[in-house]
Amino acid sequence: MNAQEIIGLEQQHVLGVYGRPPFVIERGEGATLYDSDGKAYVDTVAGIAVNALGYNDAGTKNAIAEAISSGVLHTSNLYTTAPQARLAAKLCQTSFADRVHFANSGAEANEGAFKFARRYARDTFPDQPNKFEILAFSNAFHGRTMGALAATPRDKYQAPFKPLMPGVRIAEYNNLADATAKMDDNVCAIIVEPIQGEGGIYIASNEFLQGLRTLADKHNALLIYDEIQCGVGRTGTLWAYEAYCGDDGNAVAPDILTAAKPLAGGLPMGAILMREKVAATLHKGDHGSTFAGGPLVTSVAHHVVERVSEPEFLAAVESKGALMKEMFEELNSPHIVEVRGKGLLVGVELDIETAPVIGACAEKGVLIVNAGPNVLRLVPPLIISEEEIARAVQTVGSILAEL
Ligand SMILES: Cc1ncc(COP(=O)(O)O)c(C=O)c1O
Repeated sequence: MNAQEIIGLEQQHVLGVYGRPPFVIERGEGATLYDSDGKAYVDTVAGIAVNALGYNDAGTKNAIAEAISSGVLHTSNLYTTAPQARLAAKLCQTSFADRVHFANSGAEANEGAFKFARRYARDTFPDQPNKFEILAFSNAFHGRTMGALAATPRDKYQAPFKPLMPGVRIAEYNNLADATAKMDDNVCAIIVEPIQGEGGIYIASNEFLQGLRTLADKHNALLIYDEIQCGVGRTGTLWAYEAYCGDDGNAVAPDILTAAKPLAGGLPMGAILMREKVAATLHKGDHGSTFAGGPLVTSVAHHVVERVSEPEFLAAVESKGALMKEMFEELNSPHIVEVRGKGLLVGVELDIETAPVIGACAEKGVLIVNAGPNVLRLVPPLIISEEEIARAVQTVGSILAEL
């Protein structure tokens, strides 16, 4: 089948909820993708902040091959397997967490986090039956399942699917006074992205995260960090919250952290990391999943976390991110309103819509995704080279210069 035939088949049979450009991805190497006509694209999308180790990574392929060689791709959570136990230990050793529960996606991890927060509140404060509400923030994206959607306050996503899960309050992101005003003892959890991804690459201020930690403690609520997009090395620390902790590694650590996207090198996976006080309130049968945390995905995730948590790897993410931001600034384009972000989670806000820029970039061999209508989002494989970064930025620059 040629590209046109494949696209025709897709348009006839796949649900039309995605808008796709007119080419067919066939293979990848490092941070470069190739379409079915052999055209190369520098990929700053990485499967939407997923393919941290890039395409065709030897270690990932080895981990997959080893997992497959056992013959056991799946056992369910009825039985113990070594890869799951090993990964859970690794995630705890490299974070604030005491225990981990696995899921299959980001949204599912957030659903679990909400359930765990409610369970914790029910168990710990039995005389407060109304302590089940969630405080979330403007511009947030927590996923498209019913609970996560209720905490994703955008009409475009919510309106067609109402009624939503009740009990979610929204305060303005980075506005501690508003969060304080919206908070009371009926809130069982605050959920926040330390860096908002889909919402346009907005970084939480130190005061905001510190304030939320204090606010959660004051009202006996749990603090949940959604690090589904900003976690697992993307911002130059293994977990984005670490950058807010200063010398005290735990100063603003959460009670629950959700991770997903890059965790298993492109295989579907989510994880809910939590403190013992939360874990202690969950009992056998309270929550579960058929597929989550299977031996294949956990083997690959162990490889990803090992690679990404190496200090040299993280230092390279930080310096490549700084280089990318600097190069965008140096374009001095009148169309660029602001360049922001941390590590390789970079947003370039334009004074025009991003759609035509993204289309023209693809034609010139650079893939970029948006974050809202006016923000170009660059979330490449963390192994991207400086030359590839330069190529991506120069391509954007040449297109902006023609507009
Ligand atoms: C911060 C954040 N949370 C949750 C999600 C939902 O993850 P998934 O698409 O795996 O359900 C996303 C996806 O973009 C995200 O960026």
